Amino acid sequence: MRLAIGSDHAGFALKEHLKTWLAARGHDVLDLGTDSESRCDYPDFGFLVAQAIVRGEAERGILICGTGLGMAITANRLTGVRAASCTMEYAAEMARRHNDANVLTMGARLVTRELAERLVDVFLSTPFEGGRHEERVRKMDRVPRGVSPAGRKDGTGGCLPVGPA
Ligand code: RB5
Repeated sequence: MRLAIGSDHAGFALKEHLKTWLAARGHDVLDLGTDSESRCDYPDFGFLVAQAIVRGEAERGILICGTGLGMAITANRLTGVRAASCTMEYAAEMARRHNDANVLTMGARLVTRELAERLVDVFLSTPFEGGRHEERVRKMDRVPRGVSPAGRKDGTGGCLPVGPA
């Protein structure tokens, strides 16, 4: 699978490890940085991986910072990116099955290398279930930035267009 990977300084060592691990499993890995343990800002690399997803340059993304949280917050600002920060295999599985997550974020200070490998393995091998989850995922990607989608439960009153966009 064509993957984009990125990290900040806190995630650098785990990114390097996963890059080798993924390549050994036949994945095509686009490393978008950072390239050392020198202190840097996670949004710079979070946006690069998110952009690679939006532009279709990679099918899935992997982002690593200290907690996984800053990377998820960053990547989710781009419409079409669904980044899930996971520390448990079940979360990684459901992020794919129900949310069609296309970016996995992890905290190098929260997960061991072995757990990170398992999370990535589950994330890359689990299919999206589709069905009733399809429209929910489409709704997320339809929300214009800065506009509340709040509407009534029957689907009226919100800012979202009705039907497929
Ligand atoms: C860096 O110290 C840390 O703040 C960063 O890696 C990340 O955890 C932010 O969410």
